[in-house]
Amino acid sequence: MSAFNRSISSSRTTSFHRTPNLNRFRRCFHFHFLLIAASLISLFVAIRDGYYIYVLPQTHHFSTRNTSLTHCDVYQGRWVPVPPYSLYNATDCPFVERGFDCLANGRKDMNYLNWRWKPNDCEIPRLNVSYVLEMFRGKRIVFVGDSMSRTQWESLVCMLMGGVEDKSSVYEVNGKKVSKQIRFLGVRFRDFNFTIEFFRSVFLVQQGPVPKHAPKRVKSTLRLDRLDDISDKWVHSDVLIFNTGHWWVPTKLFDMGCYFQVGRSLKMGMSIPVAFRTALGTWASWVERKINKSRTRVFFRTFEPSHWRVSFYTLVAFAQFKITLTRVPLQAKKKLIDQPRRTCNTTSYPMIETDGRDQNLFSETVFDVVKNVTVPINLLHVTTMTAFRSDAHVGNWSDNPSVHDCSHWCLPGVPDMWNEIILSQLSTHYEFPFQQMESQSEFSYFVMLFLSLCLAASGMI
Ligand SMILES: *[C@@H]1O[C@H](CO)[C@@H](O)[C@H](O)[C@H]1NC(C)=O
Ligand SMILES: *[C@@H]1O[C@H](CO)[C@@H](O)[C@H](O)[C@H]1NC(C)=O
Ligand SMILES: *[C@@H]1O[C@H](CO)[C@@H](O)[C@H](O)[C@H]1NC(C)=O
Ligand SMILES: *[C@@H]1O[C@H](CO)[C@@H](O)[C@H](O)[C@H]1NC(C)=O
Ligand SMILES: *[C@@H]1O[C@H](CO)[C@@H](O)[C@H](O)[C@H]1NC(C)=O
Ligand SMILES: *[C@@H]1O[C@H](CO)[C@@H](O)[C@H](O)[C@H]1NC(C)=O
Ligand SMILES: *[C@@H]1O[C@H](CO)[C@@H](O)[C@H](O)[C@H]1NC(C)=O
Ligand SMILES: *[C@@H]1O[C@H](CO)[C@@H](O)[C@H](O)[C@H]1NC(C)=O
Repeated sequence: MSAFNRSISSSRTTSFHRTPNLNRFRRCFHFHFLLIAASLISLFVAIRDGYYIYVLPQTHHFSTRNTSLTHCDVYQGRWVPVPPYSLYNATDCPFVERGFDCLANGRKDMNYLNWRWKPNDCEIPRLNVSYVLEMFRGKRIVFVGDSMSRTQWESLVCMLMGGVEDKSSVYEVNGKKVSKQIRFLGVRFRDFNFTIEFFRSVFLVQQGPVPKHAPKRVKSTLRLDRLDDISDKWVHSDVLIFNTGHWWVPTKLFDMGCYFQVGRSLKMGMSIPVAFRTALGTWASWVERKINKSRTRVFFRTFEPSHWRVSFYTLVAFAQFKITLTRVPLQAKKKLIDQPRRTCNTTSYPMIETDGRDQNLFSETVFDVVKNVTVPINLLHVTTMTAFRSDAHVGNWSDNPSVHDCSHWCLPGVPDMWNEIILSQLSTHYEFPFQQMESQSEFSYFVMLFLSLCLAASGMI
Protein backbone atom coordinates (compact mmCIF):
# COMPACT_ATOMS: atom_id res chain seq x y z
CA MET A 1 0.00 0.00 0.00
CA SER A 2 2.77 2.41 0.93
CA ALA A 3 4.46 1.93 -2.44
CA PHE A 4 1.29 3.01 -4.21
CA ASN A 5 0.81 6.01 -1.93
CA ARG A 6 4.30 7.17 -2.61
CA SER A 7 3.88 6.95 -6.35
CA ILE A 8 0.62 8.85 -6.21
CA SER A 9 2.05 11.65 -4.14
CA SER A 10 5.15 11.89 -6.29
CA SER A 11 3.07 12.22 -9.43
CA ARG A 12 1.03 14.90 -7.66
CA THR A 13 4.15 16.79 -6.73
CA THR A 14 5.25 16.99 -10.31
CA SER A 15 1.98 18.49 -11.36
CA PHE A 16 2.20 21.13 -8.62
CA HIS A 17 5.63 22.10 -9.82
CA ARG A 18 4.32 23.09 -13.17
CA THR A 19 2.99 26.45 -12.03
CA PRO A 20 6.34 28.14 -11.16
CA ASN A 21 7.68 26.96 -14.48
CA LEU A 22 4.80 28.66 -16.22
CA ASN A 23 5.43 31.86 -14.30
CA ARG A 24 8.99 31.98 -15.49
CA PHE A 25 7.87 31.85 -19.07
CA ARG A 26 4.94 34.15 -18.69
CA ARG A 27 6.85 37.29 -19.57
CA CYS A 28 8.01 35.81 -22.79
CA PHE A 29 6.17 37.02 -25.84
CA HIS A 30 6.36 33.57 -27.35
CA PHE A 31 4.32 32.17 -24.58
CA HIS A 32 1.52 34.69 -25.17
CA PHE A 33 1.41 33.61 -28.73
CA LEU A 34 1.36 29.94 -27.74
CA LEU A 35 -1.41 30.56 -25.25
CA ILE A 36 -3.62 32.24 -27.78
CA ALA A 37 -2.93 29.55 -30.33
CA ALA A 38 -3.62 26.80 -27.79
CA SER A 39 -6.81 28.54 -26.75
CA LEU A 40 -8.05 28.78 -30.28
CA ILE A 41 -7.20 25.16 -30.94
CA SER A 42 -8.90 23.93 -27.81
CA LEU A 43 -11.91 26.11 -28.56
CA PHE A 44 -12.09 24.55 -31.98
CA VAL A 45 -11.70 21.05 -30.58
CA ALA A 46 -14.31 21.78 -27.95
CA ILE A 47 -16.83 22.84 -30.54
CA ARG A 48 -16.07 19.92 -32.81
CA ASP A 49 -15.78 17.05 -30.36
CA GLY A 50 -18.16 17.87 -27.57
CA TYR A 51 -17.73 15.36 -24.83
CA TYR A 52 -14.53 13.69 -25.97
CA ILE A 53 -12.55 16.32 -24.15
CA TYR A 54 -10.37 14.99 -21.44
CA VAL A 55 -7.33 17.07 -22.35
CA LEU A 56 -7.50 19.28 -19.31
CA PRO A 57 -7.68 17.28 -16.11
CA GLN A 58 -9.29 18.72 -12.98
CA THR A 59 -11.51 21.08 -14.90
CA HIS A 60 -13.80 21.12 -11.89
CA HIS A 61 -11.56 23.66 -10.18
CA PHE A 62 -12.95 26.17 -12.59
CA SER A 63 -16.55 25.14 -12.19
CA THR A 64 -18.86 25.63 -9.29
CA ARG A 65 -18.58 22.50 -7.23
CA ASN A 66 -21.81 20.79 -6.40
CA THR A 67 -21.07 17.82 -4.24
CA SER A 68 -24.51 16.26 -4.34
CA LEU A 69 -24.54 12.98 -6.23
CA THR A 70 -27.12 14.38 -8.60
CA HIS A 71 -24.64 16.82 -10.04
CA CYS A 72 -21.57 14.70 -9.78
CA ASP A 73 -20.00 12.69 -12.55
CA VAL A 74 -19.36 9.59 -10.47
CA TYR A 75 -17.16 8.09 -13.17
CA GLN A 76 -14.46 10.75 -12.91
CA GLY A 77 -12.32 9.94 -9.93
CA ARG A 78 -9.75 7.55 -8.54
CA TRP A 79 -9.37 4.50 -6.33
CA VAL A 80 -8.46 5.33 -2.76
CA PRO A 81 -7.18 2.91 -0.13
CA VAL A 82 -9.67 2.25 2.64
CA PRO A 83 -9.52 0.08 5.74
CA PRO A 84 -10.36 -3.53 4.86
CA TYR A 85 -14.03 -3.94 4.22
CA SER A 86 -15.94 -6.42 2.22
CA LEU A 87 -19.65 -6.70 1.88
CA TYR A 88 -19.84 -10.49 2.02
CA ASN A 89 -17.80 -13.65 2.38
CA ALA A 90 -17.84 -15.34 -1.02
CA THR A 91 -17.33 -18.78 0.48
CA ASP A 92 -20.43 -18.39 2.62
CA CYS A 93 -22.58 -17.12 -0.24
CA PRO A 94 -23.99 -20.00 -2.30
CA PHE A 95 -24.37 -17.81 -5.37
CA VAL A 96 -20.70 -16.95 -5.94
CA GLU A 97 -19.31 -19.47 -8.40
CA ARG A 98 -16.15 -21.18 -7.27
CA GLY A 99 -14.16 -19.70 -10.16
CA PHE A 100 -14.55 -16.16 -8.79
CA ASP A 101 -13.88 -16.95 -5.13
CA CYS A 102 -10.20 -16.00 -5.27
CA LEU A 103 -9.56 -16.24 -1.52
CA ALA A 104 -10.91 -19.79 -1.41
CA ASN A 105 -8.81 -20.62 -4.48
CA GLY A 106 -5.62 -19.64 -2.72
CA ARG A 107 -5.14 -15.91 -3.18
CA LYS A 108 -3.08 -14.78 -0.21
CA ASP A 109 -2.67 -11.04 -0.67
CA MET A 110 -5.84 -9.23 0.27
CA ASN A 111 -4.83 -5.73 -0.76
CA TYR A 112 -7.18 -5.83 -3.70
CA LEU A 113 -10.11 -5.71 -1.28
CA ASN A 114 -9.03 -2.46 0.31
CA TRP A 115 -9.92 0.07 -2.36
CA ARG A 116 -12.93 2.21 -2.95
CA TRP A 117 -13.82 4.36 -5.94
CA LYS A 118 -13.82 8.05 -5.03
CA PRO A 119 -15.43 10.40 -7.56
CA ASN A 120 -13.74 13.81 -7.73
CA ASP A 121 -16.79 15.73 -6.65
CA CYS A 122 -18.74 13.46 -4.34
CA GLU A 123 -18.77 10.24 -2.35
CA ILE A 124 -20.53 7.07 -3.36
CA PRO A 125 -22.64 6.35 -0.29
CA ARG A 126 -21.88 3.16 1.57
CA LEU A 127 -24.31 0.32 1.05
CA ASN A 128 -27.17 0.31 3.51
CA VAL A 129 -28.47 -3.24 3.08
CA SER A 130 -31.69 -2.83 5.00
CA TYR A 131 -32.53 0.27 3.01
CA VAL A 132 -31.95 -1.51 -0.30
CA LEU A 133 -33.92 -4.61 0.74
CA GLU A 134 -36.89 -2.36 1.44
CA MET A 135 -36.34 -0.37 -1.74
CA PHE A 136 -36.53 -3.59 -3.78
CA ARG A 137 -39.66 -4.94 -2.08
CA GLY A 138 -42.08 -6.25 -4.73
CA LYS A 139 -39.63 -5.46 -7.55
CA ARG A 140 -37.96 -7.44 -10.31
CA ILE A 141 -34.29 -6.76 -11.07
CA VAL A 142 -32.92 -8.23 -14.29
CA PHE A 143 -29.35 -8.53 -15.56
CA VAL A 144 -28.81 -9.35 -19.24
CA GLY A 145 -25.45 -10.05 -20.84
CA ASP A 146 -22.33 -12.17 -20.69
CA SER A 147 -20.29 -13.60 -17.82
CA MET A 148 -19.45 -10.08 -16.63
CA SER A 149 -23.15 -9.60 -16.07
CA ARG A 150 -23.30 -12.90 -14.20
CA THR A 151 -20.47 -11.72 -11.93
CA GLN A 152 -22.34 -8.54 -11.15
CA TRP A 153 -25.51 -10.54 -10.52
CA GLU A 154 -23.65 -12.82 -8.10
CA SER A 155 -22.19 -9.79 -6.37
CA LEU A 156 -25.57 -8.08 -5.91
CA VAL A 157 -27.28 -11.21 -4.61
CA CYS A 158 -24.52 -11.77 -2.07
CA MET A 159 -24.35 -8.13 -0.99
CA LEU A 160 -28.06 -8.17 -0.19
CA MET A 161 -28.06 -11.64 1.35
CA GLY A 162 -25.84 -10.20 4.06
CA GLY A 163 -28.88 -8.32 5.37
CA VAL A 164 -31.18 -11.33 5.49
CA GLU A 165 -31.43 -13.29 8.74
CA ASP A 166 -32.92 -16.51 7.40
CA LYS A 167 -30.56 -17.48 4.56
CA SER A 168 -32.88 -20.28 3.43
CA SER A 169 -35.44 -17.65 2.48
CA VAL A 170 -33.13 -16.69 -0.40
CA TYR A 171 -33.14 -19.32 -3.15
CA GLU A 172 -32.79 -19.93 -6.87
CA VAL A 173 -36.31 -20.30 -8.22
CA ASN A 174 -35.58 -23.50 -10.18
CA GLY A 175 -33.11 -24.88 -7.66
CA LYS A 176 -30.33 -24.43 -10.25
CA LYS A 177 -26.65 -24.01 -9.47
CA VAL A 178 -24.64 -21.22 -11.06
CA SER A 179 -22.75 -22.39 -14.12
CA LYS A 180 -21.08 -20.83 -17.13
CA GLN A 181 -23.54 -21.84 -19.86
CA ILE A 182 -26.79 -21.46 -17.93
CA ARG A 183 -29.35 -19.29 -19.76
CA PHE A 184 -31.40 -18.18 -16.78
CA LEU A 185 -30.90 -17.80 -13.05
CA GLY A 186 -33.35 -16.17 -10.68
CA VAL A 187 -32.83 -15.65 -6.99
CA ARG A 188 -35.87 -14.89 -4.92
CA PHE A 189 -35.72 -12.99 -1.64
CA ARG A 190 -38.91 -14.48 -0.18
CA ASP A 191 -39.36 -12.20 2.81
CA PHE A 192 -38.92 -9.09 0.68
CA ASN A 193 -40.90 -10.40 -2.29
CA PHE A 194 -38.35 -9.56 -4.98
CA THR A 195 -36.17 -11.44 -7.46
CA ILE A 196 -32.78 -10.73 -8.96
CA GLU A 197 -32.47 -12.48 -12.31
CA PHE A 198 -29.76 -13.13 -14.85
CA PHE A 199 -30.28 -13.92 -18.53
CA ARG A 200 -27.27 -15.07 -20.49
CA SER A 201 -27.28 -13.27 -23.82
CA VAL A 202 -23.70 -12.63 -24.79
CA PHE A 203 -24.47 -10.68 -27.99
CA LEU A 204 -27.96 -9.41 -27.05
CA VAL A 205 -29.00 -10.24 -30.62
CA GLN A 206 -30.16 -13.62 -31.89
CA GLN A 207 -27.91 -16.43 -32.96
CA GLY A 208 -29.42 -18.25 -35.91
CA PRO A 209 -28.95 -21.22 -38.23
CA VAL A 210 -27.03 -21.12 -41.49
CA PRO A 211 -29.09 -19.80 -44.42
CA LYS A 212 -29.29 -21.90 -47.59
CA HIS A 213 -26.51 -21.50 -50.16
CA ALA A 214 -24.15 -20.00 -47.59
CA PRO A 215 -20.41 -20.53 -48.03
CA LYS A 216 -19.05 -23.61 -46.33
CA ARG A 217 -17.16 -21.74 -43.63
CA VAL A 218 -20.40 -20.36 -42.20
CA LYS A 219 -21.40 -22.51 -39.23
CA SER A 220 -23.87 -20.13 -37.59
CA THR A 221 -25.05 -16.55 -37.92
CA LEU A 222 -25.71 -13.58 -35.72
CA ARG A 223 -28.99 -11.90 -36.68
CA LEU A 224 -28.06 -8.26 -36.12
CA ASP A 225 -31.62 -7.08 -36.79
CA ARG A 226 -33.29 -9.27 -34.16
CA LEU A 227 -32.95 -9.16 -30.43
CA ASP A 228 -32.32 -12.44 -28.61
CA ASP A 229 -35.33 -14.78 -28.64
CA ILE A 230 -35.54 -14.66 -24.82
CA SER A 231 -35.86 -10.86 -24.86
CA ASP A 232 -39.60 -10.93 -24.08
CA LYS A 233 -38.68 -12.15 -20.62
CA TRP A 234 -36.73 -8.96 -19.91
CA VAL A 235 -39.62 -6.59 -20.45
CA HIS A 236 -41.68 -6.49 -17.28
CA SER A 237 -38.90 -5.57 -14.91
CA ASP A 238 -38.23 -2.64 -12.61
CA VAL A 239 -34.47 -2.47 -13.07
CA LEU A 240 -32.88 -3.76 -16.26
CA ILE A 241 -29.09 -3.86 -16.58
CA PHE A 242 -27.44 -4.72 -19.90
CA ASN A 243 -23.93 -5.38 -21.05
CA THR A 244 -22.20 -6.87 -24.07
CA GLY A 245 -18.72 -6.61 -25.52
CA HIS A 246 -16.33 -9.40 -24.63
CA TRP A 247 -17.76 -11.80 -27.20
CA TRP A 248 -17.41 -9.37 -30.10
CA VAL A 249 -13.97 -10.65 -31.05
CA PRO A 250 -12.81 -12.69 -34.06
CA THR A 251 -11.95 -15.73 -31.92
CA LYS A 252 -15.55 -16.01 -30.74
CA LEU A 253 -17.09 -15.12 -34.11
CA PHE A 254 -15.29 -15.72 -37.40
CA ASP A 255 -12.92 -18.35 -35.99
CA MET A 256 -15.99 -20.29 -34.86
CA GLY A 257 -17.65 -19.93 -38.26
CA CYS A 258 -20.13 -17.34 -36.98
CA TYR A 259 -20.93 -14.57 -39.47
CA PHE A 260 -23.33 -11.63 -39.47
CA GLN A 261 -26.74 -11.57 -41.05
CA VAL A 262 -29.21 -8.72 -41.56
CA GLY A 263 -32.67 -9.69 -42.82
CA ARG A 264 -32.07 -12.49 -45.28
CA SER A 265 -28.68 -11.39 -46.40
CA LEU A 266 -25.44 -12.69 -45.07
CA LYS A 267 -22.88 -9.94 -44.46
CA MET A 268 -19.62 -11.78 -44.93
CA GLY A 269 -17.48 -8.66 -45.17
CA MET A 270 -19.00 -6.69 -42.32
CA SER A 271 -16.50 -5.63 -39.67
CA ILE A 272 -17.06 -6.25 -35.98
CA PRO A 273 -17.38 -2.55 -35.02
CA VAL A 274 -20.05 -2.02 -37.69
CA ALA A 275 -21.87 -5.18 -36.61
CA PHE A 276 -21.71 -4.10 -32.97
CA ARG A 277 -23.24 -0.75 -33.82
CA THR A 278 -25.98 -2.39 -35.86
CA ALA A 279 -26.80 -4.79 -33.03
CA LEU A 280 -26.96 -1.94 -30.53
CA GLY A 281 -29.27 -0.08 -32.89
CA THR A 282 -31.57 -3.11 -32.82
CA TRP A 283 -31.34 -3.11 -29.04
CA ALA A 284 -32.15 0.61 -28.91
CA SER A 285 -35.27 0.29 -31.03
CA TRP A 286 -36.35 -2.68 -28.92
CA VAL A 287 -36.04 -0.52 -25.81
CA GLU A 288 -38.11 2.20 -27.49
CA ARG A 289 -40.85 -0.25 -28.44
CA LYS A 290 -41.04 -2.45 -25.38
CA ILE A 291 -39.94 -0.59 -22.30
CA ASN A 292 -42.46 1.23 -20.14
CA LYS A 293 -40.40 4.15 -19.00
CA SER A 294 -42.58 4.90 -16.01
CA ARG A 295 -41.74 1.49 -14.62
CA THR A 296 -38.35 0.28 -15.81
CA ARG A 297 -35.02 1.94 -15.07
CA VAL A 298 -32.67 0.86 -17.84
CA PHE A 299 -28.92 0.67 -17.32
CA PHE A 300 -26.22 -0.18 -19.84
CA ARG A 301 -22.82 -1.04 -18.47
CA THR A 302 -19.93 -0.07 -20.73
CA PHE A 303 -16.96 -2.29 -21.50
CA GLU A 304 -14.95 -3.66 -18.58
CA PRO A 305 -11.27 -3.60 -19.65
CA SER A 306 -9.22 -6.76 -19.25
CA HIS A 307 -5.51 -6.77 -18.45
CA TRP A 308 -3.87 -9.34 -20.66
CA ARG A 309 -0.31 -8.84 -21.78
CA VAL A 310 1.07 -10.07 -25.01
CA SER A 311 4.40 -11.53 -23.94
CA PHE A 312 7.51 -10.33 -25.67
CA TYR A 313 8.83 -13.86 -25.87
CA THR A 314 5.73 -14.99 -27.71
CA LEU A 315 5.97 -12.14 -30.20
CA VAL A 316 9.59 -13.02 -30.92
CA ALA A 317 8.77 -16.70 -31.11
CA PHE A 318 6.01 -16.08 -33.60
CA ALA A 319 8.18 -13.86 -35.73
CA GLN A 320 10.87 -16.53 -35.77
CA PHE A 321 8.29 -19.17 -36.44
CA LYS A 322 7.06 -17.34 -39.53
CA ILE A 323 10.55 -16.86 -40.90
CA THR A 324 11.70 -20.41 -40.35
CA LEU A 325 8.40 -22.02 -41.07
CA THR A 326 9.73 -24.57 -43.50
CA ARG A 327 12.90 -25.52 -41.68
CA VAL A 328 11.67 -26.17 -38.16
CA PRO A 329 10.95 -29.80 -37.23
CA LEU A 330 7.29 -30.58 -36.67
CA GLN A 331 7.66 -31.04 -32.93
CA ALA A 332 9.21 -27.60 -32.49
CA LYS A 333 6.52 -26.00 -34.63
CA LYS A 334 3.86 -27.50 -32.45
CA LYS A 335 5.58 -26.20 -29.34
CA LEU A 336 5.64 -22.67 -30.72
CA ILE A 337 1.98 -22.76 -31.67
CA ASP A 338 1.04 -23.98 -28.21
CA GLN A 339 2.76 -21.03 -26.52
CA PRO A 340 0.12 -18.84 -24.94
CA ARG A 341 -0.06 -15.66 -26.98
CA ARG A 342 -1.01 -13.54 -24.03
CA THR A 343 -0.22 -13.77 -20.36
CA CYS A 344 -1.99 -12.65 -17.29
CA ASN A 345 -0.06 -11.27 -14.39
CA THR A 346 -2.30 -9.81 -11.75
CA THR A 347 -0.60 -6.98 -9.90
CA SER A 348 -0.63 -6.35 -6.17
CA TYR A 349 -1.91 -2.79 -6.50
CA PRO A 350 -4.14 -0.91 -8.92
CA MET A 351 -2.31 0.70 -11.80
CA ILE A 352 -1.54 4.39 -11.57
CA GLU A 353 -2.18 4.93 -15.26
CA THR A 354 -4.86 3.26 -17.35
CA ASP A 355 -2.41 2.69 -20.22
CA GLY A 356 -5.13 3.66 -22.66
CA ARG A 357 -7.53 1.01 -21.44
CA ASP A 358 -10.04 3.73 -20.56
CA GLN A 359 -10.57 4.35 -24.27
CA ASN A 360 -12.72 1.68 -25.81
CA LEU A 361 -14.49 1.53 -29.12
CA PHE A 362 -17.36 -0.55 -27.74
CA SER A 363 -17.97 1.96 -24.95
CA GLU A 364 -17.92 4.85 -27.37
CA THR A 365 -20.41 3.10 -29.61
CA VAL A 366 -22.67 2.65 -26.61
CA PHE A 367 -22.50 6.41 -25.83
CA ASP A 368 -23.39 7.18 -29.43
CA VAL A 369 -26.32 4.82 -29.70
CA VAL A 370 -27.79 5.71 -26.31
CA LYS A 371 -27.92 9.40 -27.24
CA ASN A 372 -30.69 8.69 -29.73
CA VAL A 373 -32.93 6.69 -27.39
CA THR A 374 -35.88 8.57 -25.93
CA VAL A 375 -36.30 6.11 -23.06
CA PRO A 376 -33.82 7.31 -20.42
CA ILE A 377 -30.81 5.01 -20.31
CA ASN A 378 -28.40 5.31 -17.45
CA LEU A 379 -24.91 4.55 -18.65
CA LEU A 380 -22.94 2.68 -16.08
CA HIS A 381 -19.66 3.95 -17.42
CA VAL A 382 -17.28 1.57 -15.67
CA THR A 383 -14.62 1.52 -18.39
CA THR A 384 -12.30 4.13 -16.88
CA MET A 385 -12.64 3.16 -13.24
CA THR A 386 -12.16 -0.50 -14.04
CA ALA A 387 -9.15 0.14 -16.28
CA PHE A 388 -7.01 0.84 -13.19
CA ARG A 389 -7.74 -2.49 -11.51
CA SER A 390 -5.12 -4.87 -12.88
CA ASP A 391 -4.90 -6.21 -9.32
CA ALA A 392 -8.48 -7.38 -9.05
CA HIS A 393 -8.66 -10.09 -11.73
CA VAL A 394 -9.15 -13.76 -11.06
CA GLY A 395 -5.62 -14.44 -12.38
CA ASN A 396 -4.61 -17.97 -11.44
CA TRP A 397 -6.95 -18.11 -8.46
CA SER A 398 -9.85 -19.65 -10.32
CA ASP A 399 -11.30 -23.14 -10.05
CA ASN A 400 -8.77 -24.17 -12.69
CA PRO A 401 -5.38 -22.68 -11.70
CA SER A 402 -3.73 -23.73 -14.95
CA VAL A 403 -5.97 -21.31 -16.83
CA HIS A 404 -5.00 -17.74 -16.07
CA ASP A 405 -7.76 -15.19 -16.34
CA CYS A 406 -7.22 -11.46 -16.74
CA SER A 407 -10.80 -10.79 -17.87
CA HIS A 408 -12.99 -11.84 -14.95
CA TRP A 409 -12.95 -10.33 -11.47
CA CYS A 410 -12.56 -11.75 -7.99
CA LEU A 411 -15.61 -11.63 -5.73
CA PRO A 412 -15.85 -9.73 -3.52
CA GLY A 413 -14.21 -7.04 -5.60
CA VAL A 414 -14.68 -4.57 -8.42
CA PRO A 415 -18.23 -5.65 -9.45
CA ASP A 416 -19.40 -4.74 -5.93
CA MET A 417 -18.47 -1.13 -6.68
CA TRP A 418 -20.51 -1.23 -9.93
CA ASN A 419 -23.46 -2.36 -7.84
CA GLU A 420 -22.93 0.27 -5.19
CA ILE A 421 -23.10 2.89 -7.95
CA ILE A 422 -26.33 1.42 -9.33
CA LEU A 423 -27.87 1.23 -5.87
CA SER A 424 -26.96 4.79 -5.01
CA GLN A 425 -28.48 5.93 -8.28
CA LEU A 426 -31.69 4.02 -7.66
CA SER A 427 -32.05 5.25 -4.12
CA THR A 428 -34.61 8.01 -3.84
CA HIS A 429 -32.18 10.13 -1.88
CA TYR A 430 -30.07 10.44 -4.97
CA GLU A 431 -32.34 10.81 -7.95
CA PHE A 432 -29.85 10.18 -10.70
CA PRO A 433 -29.49 12.30 -13.80
CA PHE A 434 -30.69 10.61 -16.96
CA GLN A 435 -28.61 10.77 -20.11
CA GLN A 436 -25.62 11.65 -18.07
CA MET A 437 -23.13 11.54 -20.92
CA GLU A 438 -25.11 14.01 -22.96
CA SER A 439 -25.48 16.61 -20.27
CA GLN A 440 -21.85 16.14 -19.44
CA SER A 441 -20.93 16.86 -23.02
CA GLU A 442 -22.65 20.22 -22.83
CA PHE A 443 -21.01 20.80 -19.52
CA SER A 444 -17.50 20.11 -20.79
CA TYR A 445 -18.24 22.25 -23.81
CA PHE A 446 -18.96 25.21 -21.56
CA VAL A 447 -15.99 24.46 -19.35
CA MET A 448 -13.79 24.38 -22.43
CA LEU A 449 -15.27 27.59 -23.75
CA PHE A 450 -14.71 29.27 -20.40
CA LEU A 451 -11.16 27.95 -20.13
CA SER A 452 -10.33 28.99 -23.63
CA LEU A 453 -11.52 32.50 -22.96
CA CYS A 454 -9.57 32.64 -19.69
CA LEU A 455 -6.43 31.41 -21.38
CA ALA A 456 -6.87 33.82 -24.26
CA ALA A 457 -7.40 36.69 -21.81
CA SER A 458 -4.41 35.80 -19.66
CA GLY A 459 -2.32 35.51 -22.79
CA MET A 460 -3.23 39.00 -23.92
CA ILE A 461 -2.65 40.83 -20.64
C1 LIG B 1 -26.55 21.19 -5.87
O1 LIG B 1 -27.63 21.28 -6.77
C2 LIG B 1 -28.89 20.92 -6.19
C3 LIG B 1 -29.96 20.96 -7.26
O2 LIG B 1 -29.90 22.12 -8.03
C4 LIG B 1 -29.20 21.91 -5.06
O3 LIG B 1 -30.43 21.55 -4.46
C5 LIG B 1 -28.09 21.83 -4.04
O4 LIG B 1 -28.32 22.78 -3.03
C6 LIG B 1 -26.74 22.10 -4.69
N1 LIG B 1 -25.69 21.88 -3.72
C7 LIG B 1 -24.69 22.74 -3.55
C8 LIG B 1 -23.70 22.38 -2.50
O5 LIG B 1 -24.58 23.75 -4.21
C1 LIG C 1 -15.28 -17.00 4.91
O1 LIG C 1 -15.94 -18.06 5.55
C2 LIG C 1 -15.17 -19.25 5.62
C3 LIG C 1 -15.98 -20.33 6.28
O2 LIG C 1 -17.29 -20.27 5.93
C4 LIG C 1 -13.88 -19.01 6.38
O3 LIG C 1 -13.11 -20.19 6.38
C5 LIG C 1 -13.11 -17.88 5.75
O4 LIG C 1 -11.99 -17.57 6.53
C6 LIG C 1 -13.98 -16.65 5.60
N1 LIG C 1 -13.25 -15.67 4.83
C7 LIG C 1 -13.05 -14.44 5.23
C8 LIG C 1 -12.27 -13.56 4.34
O5 LIG C 1 -13.47 -14.03 6.28
C1 LIG D 1 -30.19 2.33 6.72
O1 LIG D 1 -31.53 2.41 6.24
C2 LIG D 1 -32.49 2.22 7.26
C3 LIG D 1 -33.83 2.13 6.58
O2 LIG D 1 -34.03 3.18 5.68
C4 LIG D 1 -32.39 3.36 8.26
O3 LIG D 1 -33.34 3.19 9.28
C5 LIG D 1 -30.98 3.37 8.85
O4 LIG D 1 -30.82 4.49 9.67
C6 LIG D 1 -29.94 3.41 7.75
N1 LIG D 1 -28.64 3.22 8.34
C7 LIG D 1 -27.62 4.03 8.10
C8 LIG D 1 -26.33 3.69 8.76
O5 LIG D 1 -27.74 5.01 7.38
C1 LIG E 1 -45.18 -9.28 -4.35
O1 LIG E 1 -44.88 -8.36 -5.39
C2 LIG E 1 -45.81 -8.40 -6.46
C3 LIG E 1 -45.31 -7.42 -7.50
O2 LIG E 1 -44.11 -7.84 -7.99
C4 LIG E 1 -47.20 -8.04 -5.98
O3 LIG E 1 -48.10 -8.15 -7.05
C5 LIG E 1 -47.60 -8.98 -4.88
O4 LIG E 1 -48.84 -8.58 -4.35
C6 LIG E 1 -46.55 -8.98 -3.78
N1 LIG E 1 -46.88 -9.99 -2.80
C7 LIG E 1 -46.94 -9.73 -1.51
C8 LIG E 1 -47.26 -10.87 -0.63
O5 LIG E 1 -46.69 -8.62 -1.07
C1 LIG F 1 -46.34 1.59 -17.21
O1 LIG F 1 -45.98 1.49 -15.85
C2 LIG F 1 -46.80 2.26 -14.99
C3 LIG F 1 -46.19 2.20 -13.60
O2 LIG F 1 -45.96 0.87 -13.21
C4 LIG F 1 -48.23 1.71 -15.05
O3 LIG F 1 -49.06 2.48 -14.22
C5 LIG F 1 -48.72 1.78 -16.47
O4 LIG F 1 -50.00 1.17 -16.58
C6 LIG F 1 -47.75 1.05 -17.42
N1 LIG F 1 -48.15 1.29 -18.79
C7 LIG F 1 -48.32 0.30 -19.64
C8 LIG F 1 -48.67 0.68 -21.03
O5 LIG F 1 -48.13 -0.88 -19.34
C1 LIG G 1 4.53 -10.30 -12.72
O1 LIG G 1 4.66 -8.98 -12.20
C2 LIG G 1 5.56 -8.87 -11.12
C3 LIG G 1 5.54 -7.43 -10.64
O2 LIG G 1 4.32 -6.82 -10.89
C4 LIG G 1 6.96 -9.28 -11.59
O3 LIG G 1 7.83 -9.24 -10.47
C5 LIG G 1 6.92 -10.69 -12.15
O4 LIG G 1 8.17 -11.03 -12.67
C6 LIG G 1 5.88 -10.78 -13.26
N1 LIG G 1 5.77 -12.14 -13.72
C7 LIG G 1 5.75 -12.48 -15.01
C8 LIG G 1 5.63 -13.93 -15.31
O5 LIG G 1 5.83 -11.64 -15.88
C1 LIG H 1 -29.00 9.35 -34.23
O1 LIG H 1 -29.96 10.12 -34.89
C2 LIG H 1 -29.41 10.95 -35.89
C3 LIG H 1 -30.52 11.82 -36.44
O2 LIG H 1 -31.74 11.19 -36.42
C4 LIG H 1 -28.79 10.07 -36.97
O3 LIG H 1 -28.21 10.86 -37.96
C5 LIG H 1 -27.70 9.21 -36.35
O4 LIG H 1 -27.18 8.31 -37.30
C6 LIG H 1 -28.27 8.42 -35.20
N1 LIG H 1 -27.19 7.75 -34.53
C7 LIG H 1 -27.23 6.47 -34.19
C8 LIG H 1 -26.03 5.94 -33.51
O5 LIG H 1 -28.21 5.77 -34.40
C1 LIG I 1 -0.19 -17.87 -9.19
O1 LIG I 1 0.76 -16.93 -9.64
C2 LIG I 1 1.63 -16.44 -8.64
C3 LIG I 1 2.51 -15.39 -9.25
O2 LIG I 1 1.76 -14.47 -9.98
C4 LIG I 1 2.43 -17.58 -8.05
O3 LIG I 1 3.21 -17.08 -6.99
C5 LIG I 1 1.50 -18.65 -7.55
O4 LIG I 1 2.23 -19.76 -7.13
C6 LIG I 1 0.53 -19.09 -8.63
N1 LIG I 1 -0.44 -19.99 -8.04
C7 LIG I 1 -0.84 -21.10 -8.65
C8 LIG I 1 -1.86 -21.90 -7.91
O5 LIG I 1 -0.42 -21.43 -9.73
